[in-house]
Amino acid sequence: MQDITTDFLVIGSGVAGLRAAIELASKGSVLVVTKDIPTESSTEYAQGGVAVALSDEDEVGIHFEDTIRAGDGLCREDAVRVLVEEGPDRIRELIEWGAEFDREGTKLAFTLEAAHSRRRVLHANGDSTGKELERALLSKVMSIAAISRLPFSIAADLIVEDNICAGAYILKNSKMCRVFAKATILATGGAGQAFSRTTNPAVATGDGMAIAYRAGAALEDMEFVQFHPTALYAPSAPQFLLTEAMRGEGAVLKNSSKEPFMSAYHEKAELAPRDIVSRAIISEMVRTKSNNVYLDLTHKESGFIKRRFPRIYSTCLRYDVDITRDMIPVSPAAHYIMGGVKTDLDGATNIKGLYAAGEVACTGVHGANRLASNSLLEGLVYGFRAGRAAASGTNGGTADTKNFRDNVLFEDAKDGATDIDELRSIIRRVMWDRVGIIRCGVSLSEAWDKLSEMKSLLGSTFMTRRGLELRNMLTVSLLITKAAGWRKGSIGGHYRSDFTDRGNEWKQRITLSKKDGL
Ligand code: FAD
Ligand code: SIN
Repeated sequence: MQDITTDFLVIGSGVAGLRAAIELASKGSVLVVTKDIPTESSTEYAQGGVAVALSDEDEVGIHFEDTIRAGDGLCREDAVRVLVEEGPDRIRELIEWGAEFDREGTKLAFTLEAAHSRRRVLHANGDSTGKELERALLSKVMSIAAISRLPFSIAADLIVEDNICAGAYILKNSKMCRVFAKATILATGGAGQAFSRTTNPAVATGDGMAIAYRAGAALEDMEFVQFHPTALYAPSAPQFLLTEAMRGEGAVLKNSSKEPFMSAYHEKAELAPRDIVSRAIISEMVRTKSNNVYLDLTHKESGFIKRRFPRIYSTCLRYDVDITRDMIPVSPAAHYIMGGVKTDLDGATNIKGLYAAGEVACTGVHGANRLASNSLLEGLVYGFRAGRAAASGTNGGTADTKNFRDNVLFEDAKDGATDIDELRSIIRRVMWDRVGIIRCGVSLSEAWDKLSEMKSLLGSTFMTRRGLELRNMLTVSLLITKAAGWRKGSIGGHYRSDFTDRGNEWKQRITLSKKDGL
């Protein structure tokens, strides 16, 4: 088995991983490992924008309050304070590094999204904000000699002994190698691919959460999954996101009878919190026996639509939907997971030398429901903090990785299952049908039983990306299902039709680790 040694290992090259790498580089060599091309990430596809209290009409305190309100009582207030207070500096710095946000004249332009009480969402090239962040961060990374990159390489497991992490096993060119590092940062993003309807790219298979769980890390808030109300629903079209900013700019949701319905569900109508809009859409779909509803922007001037949402306009056109003239067929899809690897405010986990940042992590900043456009900001703020903490070695780790060299997994391993694609598809369907937008005790225990039939996969080793992802998707699906079964109440993104109130113990967070067993 090939061994590589670096000072710092970053797994993932989205906003959180890249921002962490930049911070680490002043203190030693950094290796950024990523399982596809470097840009392939949720970050790259982020549309609406990045929320930050920088406009003349806004204040950090108002951003704080909006985030807390969206989190439905479960945000960790200190984490939110860090996010909103440090956010403006991280954005200013990004602009200095070359990120170009849209402007009105010389001033930054801010849009409105659901549950924001101010226009505070910065955007780039209309609806391609994530692409611009990824471009600016990657070009900064490429200008730093201490950072090297290893694309098409997938982290399979962590190298951990006595609760100290000394790096990771990486599958590269079909061969497993070991990367030893003094500190390792997980920045592997979310787990949307565990659901059959998702806005997430193919790389979002929950790898970091599953890897950390196997290594003994604590995971928290796994029951809280956010479903985005509006993903394209058209024959043979991808589940392409239609940004909330469209509703912020006046788009109206209509049912299959072409009637607006959101004001019957919430006083803020189209701009109600995401979970409420998603459930309202499901109710309308059931009531009208339809597979989708519509998003209608046709009352807006066509030049404005093309200018403001160029990527959406051209993508929809490819599937014969002209958004300047046609109502867009949409239905909800899994979008973001609020839970993840439990960390402190510096990204430190309960394993020494292991940090996590971005969507894979759970600082508690989003509580039970994330405020729109807070996650790119989270990646910048907490990627920076995790990088800074790992560079100074505050969470222990190991200066000397020699002792770990006997640690060899994966020797002579072969893929443990032949029907990988079929099993992935079963997991995704079970999760969407039984652990989706509306859950109940019966659906959750059916899901648990079905997923448990595949538990032998958890003990298998895999030597392909799809195989490794399958095992991770199963692990994460079981964790989500278990936490959703334990939480007997409805709060934020977690809605149970058999417990529609919060329940007496709603403030209690659910933490899972290996000792709870799967
Ligand atoms: P990602 O950007 O997903 O990066 C994860 C990285 O880890 C990738 O490079 C991936 O290849 C790599 N990786 C994963 N597993 C492994 C492995 N095993 N080994 C090696 N590498 C691995 N948020 C907002 O704030 N504003 C928005 O407008 C917005 N729009 C969105 C639109 C879409 C379509 C989607 C899907 C999400 C959107 N979000 C938005 C959410 C936001 O984009 C993500 O939460 C955020 O980008 C996550 O950043 P990250 O760095 O944590 O992970
Ligand atoms: C969107 O543009 O609607 C997505 C924003 C987000 O997920 O934060």
